[in-house]
Amino acid sequence: MTTKKLFIRTFGCQMNVHDSEQLAELLKSSGYGTTGSAKDADLIVVNTCSIRDKAEQKVYSELGRYRHLRKAKPHLIIGVCGCVAQQQGERLLEKIPWLDLVFGTHNIHRLPELISRVGKTGRPVAETGFRETVPSIGILALPEKGSVSAFVTIMQGCDNYCAFCVVPYLRGREESRKFHDILAEVRTLAAHGVKEVTLLGQNVNSYGKSLGNGHSFSELLRAIGEIEGIERIRFTTSHPKDLTDDIIDCFRNVKALCGSIHLPVQSGADAVLARMNRRYTSADYLDCVRKLREACPDIAVSSDIIVGFPGETDQDYQKTLDLMEKVRFDTLFSFQYSERKGTAAVGLDGKVNPDEKRRRLIDLQALQDRHTQEKNDTLVGRTVEVLVEGTSRKTSRDMMGRTRTNKIVNFTGDRDLVGKTVRVRIVEAFLHSLRGEMLD
Ligand code: 5AD
Ligand code: SF4
Repeated sequence: MTTKKLFIRTFGCQMNVHDSEQLAELLKSSGYGTTGSAKDADLIVVNTCSIRDKAEQKVYSELGRYRHLRKAKPHLIIGVCGCVAQQQGERLLEKIPWLDLVFGTHNIHRLPELISRVGKTGRPVAETGFRETVPSIGILALPEKGSVSAFVTIMQGCDNYCAFCVVPYLRGREESRKFHDILAEVRTLAAHGVKEVTLLGQNVNSYGKSLGNGHSFSELLRAIGEIEGIERIRFTTSHPKDLTDDIIDCFRNVKALCGSIHLPVQSGADAVLARMNRRYTSADYLDCVRKLREACPDIAVSSDIIVGFPGETDQDYQKTLDLMEKVRFDTLFSFQYSERKGTAAVGLDGKVNPDEKRRRLIDLQALQDRHTQEKNDTLVGRTVEVLVEGTSRKTSRDMMGRTRTNKIVNFTGDRDLVGKTVRVRIVEAFLHSLRGEMLD
């Protein structure tokens, strides 16, 4: 049987990357194998993200690139999924005549059927309905052979309604996967040689609430920690308001749980946090960080910050910088606020002008770069445990792995180290990676 070729272009977060993996897995049964080149593809899928600005423009320019391919290859099917698809639905088909398929965040599992419909009728299809349960979160996407780490979706959607965020409108209500299904998936991954799992969800800390049967996130962490072969557990993303003491305790008691956490703070000013509907104060946040560091002294803390949220004064912004000084994040993702249609923040007064937002972001990023470099510098001379993932991006002569605190380390070593944990002494620190020498 000739295999048809699938090319996926993914924008956005790890959730989207994992959705794309699941999509590829699902399409295997329809005879599709993946290709890295759009030119060779029989099916192109653009997996979109609309959480921040310019997402739609990006999608249009990406799709523009495929127009000539469609002309040259009439049987080529081009589809769009993810948040922009969810938001725009049929409008995308109207705007882009060479597009065949639009499917929303809850419709991934229907893709084989939709493709076959397009193939048979030659007519474009848009499917963006929402369902109570999302069957696609149960698709097991085995990572490529030899992969050391894998994603596992544990919940989808979000009920938090932060004032700036479109996710609850586009990904739907919070829904946790069944406890035993998750454990079964992790066991299968471990049996395929996976050493590290990253548990995914918009707000993993609230795992279990929608199940109503008493299973909680900390219980899940403890249970995964017992699975043989799983050496490292990570999770993303967490909400500070749901970071309970029993989750923090897992950093003490679950050996496989890595010492790193992504804990978005968004702002250091209580007035801004309240308007954002975050439901914690900067003091609560600092308390979380203090407790995390008590439980795991070397824990790496990363975060998200938005500057220029409506009503953010210069003093508010200064409070964010003060919080950064107090916490000293290992890494930070920072953004200018961009208005998303349909969110609560649209109605708020006190829009910050674009030049001011830009200035705030540049200054904040300069401060963070100093902190990141200082943090990385403290590792020079220390010996760390590195789980080897593959060859280095810069040169295939070097190997690349991560510390338990999620920092990238490049070092000279053999390819057969992939999947092994080695001890490496750090000799040089950069902003985005470390250089080391293997000891073992
Ligand atoms: N504007 C700017 N940043 C945003 N984020 C989410 N929505 C917006 C928006 N409207 C950021 C938040 C979130 C991260 C994933 O994206 O910081 O934590
Ligand atoms: Fe968006 Fe807030 Fe939910 Fe995160 S917790 S997905 S920022 S609404």
